[in-house]
Amino acid sequence: MYTECIIKKFNIFKTFSLKFVTIFMVIRMDNVSKIMDELIEKINKASIEYYVNDNPTITDQEYDDYYNELIRLEKKYPELKKSNSPTLRVGGKVVDKFEKVTHDTPMLSFDDIFNEDEIVLFDERIRKSCPNASYTLEPKMDGLSGSLLYKNGVLVRAATRGDGLIGENITHNVETIKSVPLKLNKALDIEVRGEIYMSKASFEKCNKEREKNGENLFANPRNAAAGSVRQLDSKIAAKRNLDFMAYFLPNPEKYGIKTQEESLKLLKELGFKTNYKLNGIAKGVNDIISYIDDLGKKRPDLPFEIDGVVLKVNSLDDEAKLGFTERVPRWGIAYKFPAEEVLTTLKEIKFTVGRTGKITPNAIFSPVHVAGSIVSKATLHNEDYCLDKDVRVGDVISIRKAGDVIPEVVEVKKERRTGNEVLFKMIENCPMCASKLVKEDANYFCKNSLCPARKIEGLIHFASRDTMNIDGLGERIIEDFYNMGFIKSISDIYLLSNHKEDLIELEGFGEKSVNNLLNSIENSKNNSLEKVLFALGIRHVGKKTAKIIAKRYKTIDNLINASEEELTSVNDIGEIIAKSIKKYLSDSNNLNLIEDLKKLGLNFEYKNEGEDDKLSGMTFVLTGTLEKYKRDELTKILENKGAKVTSSVTKKTSAVIVGDKPGSKYDKALKLGITIYNEKDALNIIK
Ligand code: IVH
Repeated sequence: MYTECIIKKFNIFKTFSLKFVTIFMVIRMDNVSKIMDELIEKINKASIEYYVNDNPTITDQEYDDYYNELIRLEKKYPELKKSNSPTLRVGGKVVDKFEKVTHDTPMLSFDDIFNEDEIVLFDERIRKSCPNASYTLEPKMDGLSGSLLYKNGVLVRAATRGDGLIGENITHNVETIKSVPLKLNKALDIEVRGEIYMSKASFEKCNKEREKNGENLFANPRNAAAGSVRQLDSKIAAKRNLDFMAYFLPNPEKYGIKTQEESLKLLKELGFKTNYKLNGIAKGVNDIISYIDDLGKKRPDLPFEIDGVVLKVNSLDDEAKLGFTERVPRWGIAYKFPAEEVLTTLKEIKFTVGRTGKITPNAIFSPVHVAGSIVSKATLHNEDYCLDKDVRVGDVISIRKAGDVIPEVVEVKKERRTGNEVLFKMIENCPMCASKLVKEDANYFCKNSLCPARKIEGLIHFASRDTMNIDGLGERIIEDFYNMGFIKSISDIYLLSNHKEDLIELEGFGEKSVNNLLNSIENSKNNSLEKVLFALGIRHVGKKTAKIIAKRYKTIDNLINASEEELTSVNDIGEIIAKSIKKYLSDSNNLNLIEDLKKLGLNFEYKNEGEDDKLSGMTFVLTGTLEKYKRDELTKILENKGAKVTSSVTKKTSAVIVGDKPGSKYDKALKLGITIYNEKDALNIIK
């Protein structure tokens, strides 16, 4: 009885104390959660002031103290970690693929215009329906557009534009961008659009680092930004220091907004970086032109790249009145600056030897800054090109970047000649091995298969991004390793681990970078067949052909056993390609190389089964003005599904897609009896 009583009392005590401990814990967790919220608030506010408003409000020490305390609490109470925590910025989230995202409102872009006449026409068109229209003028940021979705003020999703209707989910990378608020200053459900970009300073830093690591350099900040958001591991984007400039609300009326100016103001209030110091307002063409001139002058000193001016009608009533064509908004337009051209002096014409032995003359000039990077050489293609341009060493030449990526010599400034310039003369012997060059059509070739230049170029091609994608094995490193005797042939790449200790000793290397390089070499062994086929450097087998062949034959052994006739029957493989493949795969040296690579563990099977390449093997030609898409957009959509888009109609063309006012391609298609689709049919087929 006594014992029973004691047990009862003990149980009451136990229940009571357990309840007490639970209540105590709940209160404690509540407090911790509050403290974390406060820290997040302080850090996020300070970040916005620093990264968006350029106005630091706390010291670095204070920032670090808050940040470290937050990390400590998040480690101790991982269940309390918040979705707007600034610790997300360091990256670390890894996704295994990019989920598709359907945009609620299509992400369109504007039509481009290039000169004053087109500005006048645009203004006239607007004034027909909106006589009192005024415009906002904004720098056209040169990055990639992104859509950020906030629920209750918290960032829940970020996506790329994609084809305008469907983009890709890049939330894990966008979370790392310090100028993207993870939580807005108001608890709104809102979609914000703007440009993801890389500043000029971050771009220089990023490329310097890539050069140090022997990686391929990015051609410009836009490519660098695009390459960074398309990474599965967000640590890479976090390191690249991307930025975000907000410029557009797809549904402004929901927030009581009446003008584009007010949209920009709200964006700033919500905590976004906007171009409020550079944006302008125009009442008419004169204002627009002087804004463009003015911004053009400021352009070189801006911290980011811009490629034009975006004009939008300011009043949302006007915007609604003007509406859209099937393809683009009528209420805005993008004026593009002319491609930047800079003058420099031609110092030397240097001949290089490609992996096929082709000799290319290259212009080597005093380094100049053009369209986002410093360049010092451009191809001069071949002898005829040099003679046509009459290019001479010592000439003043103008340079621009074709398609904003590849430098080209636009013009020789003959009026600036002094008489000391040296006439162009084609060489007769290989600059590397001195073999007599052989002319085939417009080009000269070194036919010595042991020529070191050809070997080095072959190795560079093998390791490059589109082929085996071996990070850390860029041009300079391959040249050095070749000259030092570490890599003399493709197989040697996969035997590099035997020299690990020697490599670690080399200047500029260390254990970490050598380990990274060896890992990247090891990973490349798993590439799908098309990569290694392209990498081998078979003449006439480019990226697309390699894909077609890999998909058709599945393994290298099947391909080795295929006859030339059989190869020619594959869509898109003509006689020249088939002959070249057969020749390569009948040469015992090449077969030995393939056997060696197999023994070293390289995969020679096609792995990308199930990819969406339903249009593979089809060739399209586009003509006329399309309604819904720009031509390059539709081209991209078709190419993503494996189709080829060419500019001329031949018997091999699968179909011609015809828009408004088609050109002679339409007539030719009719004549040849090629299938003709209008845009709607074509889109149905794509679907
Ligand atoms: S507004 C309906 N504003 O340039 C288009 N776009 O064609 C709404 N861009 O693809 C976009 N700076 O990526 C807008 N201040 C700006 C911009 C801008 C750059 C890009 C955008 C779009 C293209 C315009």
